[in-house]
Amino acid sequence: MKVFLQTFGCQMNKLDSAIVESSLRDAGYQFANNAKDADVVLINTCSVRDHAEQRVMSHLGNLKHIKETRPDLVVGVIGCMAQRLGSELFKQSAVDIVCGPAQIAEIPRLIAEVMQEKKKTVAVTEKIRQISPDAQSLERFETEYSGDDTDIPAQAYVRAMHGCDKFCSYCVVPYVRGLETSRSPEAIIEQTKRLAQNGIKQITLLGQRINAYEYKAGDKTYCLADLLEMISEIDGIEWIKFVTSYPSQKYYKEIMQAMAELPKVCRYLHIPAQSGSDQILKAMNRGYTSAEYLELLDIARQIVPDIAIAGDFIVGFPGETDDDFSQTVDLVKKARYKNSFIFKYSPRPGTIADKRLEDNVPQEIKERRNHELLKVQEEISRALAAEVTGRTVKVLVEGPSKKSHQVDNLPQLIGRTSGDWIAVFNGPENLAGRFANVKITRTTPLTLFGELV
Ligand code: 5AD
Ligand code: SF4
Repeated sequence: MKVFLQTFGCQMNKLDSAIVESSLRDAGYQFANNAKDADVVLINTCSVRDHAEQRVMSHLGNLKHIKETRPDLVVGVIGCMAQRLGSELFKQSAVDIVCGPAQIAEIPRLIAEVMQEKKKTVAVTEKIRQISPDAQSLERFETEYSGDDTDIPAQAYVRAMHGCDKFCSYCVVPYVRGLETSRSPEAIIEQTKRLAQNGIKQITLLGQRINAYEYKAGDKTYCLADLLEMISEIDGIEWIKFVTSYPSQKYYKEIMQAMAELPKVCRYLHIPAQSGSDQILKAMNRGYTSAEYLELLDIARQIVPDIAIAGDFIVGFPGETDDDFSQTVDLVKKARYKNSFIFKYSPRPGTIADKRLEDNVPQEIKERRNHELLKVQEEISRALAAEVTGRTVKVLVEGPSKKSHQVDNLPQLIGRTSGDWIAVFNGPENLAGRFANVKITRTTPLTLFGELV
């Protein structure tokens, strides 16, 4: 039996897919590169913007045609759309399995059931604001994951937290990923040790608000800084990253201090601002002002002077005026991000913004603001990248680049620095999954080009 597993969305989904893939391999399944060669198609879905959901819907439309000629094909929708829409997804006639993020441990069983009983099946969390009854079996399932099937050699994600309770007014995550809970340090350490034994050199701790990590055991409360210190002691793990940080003072200095003092912790901080206008930040329910946000960046740079900072922004939030937008432009200029991810506001059903605020910024204005903010960021990225020219940087090699432009018969490789810069250089393919030093000779806003030292 062959499975084709396609993944949309964030790192959490990539991790869920890697765990599912690994469990299905253990159960004897093989993997195909496309739906045509597969007996089972699983789509791990994202609900964060409408566009991501529409792409899945159109895939499901195509799968319906494949199923007309191959009725035995099993199609499963997993992840955030599965939790958000539940059995409504059966309106897409191709769908046999609907499985939420908290139920992924059930997937091998659900596939077997559908194959035997030929009936559609759904597994999602009924009450998303309560601890999922599937939490314990998910935890056991997750702790077993040992880092096979990572999409980048020698690198793995490790979940530190589930869910989110922050309820930013635009965001669907609390409605699909449930309550914010931290995994125990024991489980995280045990899992990371297993990953290290299997050759993983870099782990990225995941949480929607990773800096809010908090776990009480007896008299001790563990925060992210404690976790970074404990993971630093694991032999074989050489780089530790964590995403995504939420702008808040709680534990912030401790975490920055840990980054400054622990050599394995990468000097990279992804800390979305979302907007530079205090009025919009308030409507987004973010709980900070742009001045408070910039102060956090100052603190980070005081404690870790060479830190690379990345941001996220939403343009065209309901009520965003030209003046609000120009405050966002100002914030981006002051923040001097290494890069920013910029999104056009997309109303999400069930969220507070969708219920209470009209999506009243016209599409063409959203596009224009998106484009303008990207240009402002591009100039900053260009200047920051140019500063690296002439320096030698250490990278963890991910593998051949898509372009694979050969020099002296050596393929073009891609690596990433500890500050998350992409470096492109030529070298032997067997460097994938290993560290290399690259002397940078030329840069563009998003990429460093150089030669293997
Ligand atoms: N519309 C547009 N962008 C969104 N994001 C989250 N929700 C929405 C939405 N409704 C963006 C935020 C977040 C990133 C992962 O996606 O910038 O940080
Ligand atoms: Fe969504 Fe806000 Fe939670 Fe991030 S912190 S996942 S934006 S609700």
